[in-house]
Amino acid sequence: MSFDLARVRADFPILAREVNGQPLAYLDTAASAQRPNAVIDAESDFYRQGYAAVHRGIHTLSAQATTDMENVRNEAARFLNAASAEEIIFVKGTTEGINLVANSWGGSQLRAGDNIIITQMEHHANIVPWQMVAQRTGAEIRVLPLTATGELDVAQLPSLIDSRSRLLAVAHVSNVLGVINPVKALVAQAKAAGLVTLVDGAQAVMHDTVDVQDIGCDFYVFSGHKIYGPTGVGILYGRKALLDEMPPWEGGGSMIATVSLTEGTTFAAAPGRFEAGTPNTGGIIALGAALSYIGTLGLDNIREREQTLMRYALDKLASVPDLIIYGPQQRAGVIAFNLGKHHAYDVGSFLDQYGIAIRTGHHCAMPLMQFYQVPAMCRASFAMYNSEEEADRLAAGLTRIHRLLGG
Ligand SMILES: Cc1ncc(COP(=O)(O)O)c(C=O)c1O
Repeated sequence: MSFDLARVRADFPILAREVNGQPLAYLDTAASAQRPNAVIDAESDFYRQGYAAVHRGIHTLSAQATTDMENVRNEAARFLNAASAEEIIFVKGTTEGINLVANSWGGSQLRAGDNIIITQMEHHANIVPWQMVAQRTGAEIRVLPLTATGELDVAQLPSLIDSRSRLLAVAHVSNVLGVINPVKALVAQAKAAGLVTLVDGAQAVMHDTVDVQDIGCDFYVFSGHKIYGPTGVGILYGRKALLDEMPPWEGGGSMIATVSLTEGTTFAAAPGRFEAGTPNTGGIIALGAALSYIGTLGLDNIREREQTLMRYALDKLASVPDLIIYGPQQRAGVIAFNLGKHHAYDVGSFLDQYGIAIRTGHHCAMPLMQFYQVPAMCRASFAMYNSEEEADRLAAGLTRIHRLLGG
């Protein structure tokens, strides 16, 4: 099946609007994607026709809502090629998924003198939870550095691993550089040394097929809102044997087997043990619609389309004077840049006047900004619904800003 850009764009109502008197060019999908009608309708239909509390009800609506929600768990398991739906935990997003692992696995397993390995290109969501648990337990954080070209210096990994290394946490795709990390090879090395592995897939799952069994990681996490689904929902995959050993991190309803004021509490098996309280059922159901939508288009088609567009955009941007592009040529989804000496906020504000939405700032990756010795970058992200014309407008807009402001 080929990729029909016009049809895909028509599925996303917001793409038809204007911003500042110009057609919207939405180049900020890496921050948060827009949603297709299928997702918007799934959530509103649920509230209009199907809403009820899940899990605890005997009545028809509750039973149906429970079935619909559990079907999304099955769908997410298929999406990641997990061995079973019991390995899928509904969370609020990538941030919560990593905090869950840091608190539950990290809080129970880490001892003073242990170490956790992360990388210099991580999003704060894959840094701060580890720093917090390290501080609590007395563990140390070690950092896999980058090469001059903005790739992970994988050759350095063996020198970071020792007998007290317990976990490797790494982004599948960098949210700033778009670089696709060799997670399968990194996980294999870490596993061979007995480490637990977590892959942050927040910027990966919308660009290519992910197979957690092939990668071999223990945990994989992503957010619904970056894959054309709602905010406030995400997926944490955890290998069943590991989840079974992990203590709960939040207590409350739905995560228990029995509760007694005299005998104490016993906990439900995973994944229920990690899902305390009433879930974001509408969001979960709409996430299911997003995964189905992606499945219908086909991730192979999406990857091919996006790669063509990325090559086109990089080629166009090459003609913009004084444009500094960060990271390697081969990338998924994002292009981070600065225009000469101009602050990213100024560039972003001008582009906004031309109807072009990009991201500016430190991108929740301050250690990466420190690596490049810049306070901020601009980031244009290209998704499956973006067009060559939008890439042309970005290049033309930047050229115009350069003319207005100088180099
Ligand atoms: C690589 C990466 N990890 C984690 C996150 C955090 O995701 P969320 O804010 O949806 O929890 C993001 C969001 O930008 C990201 O790009």
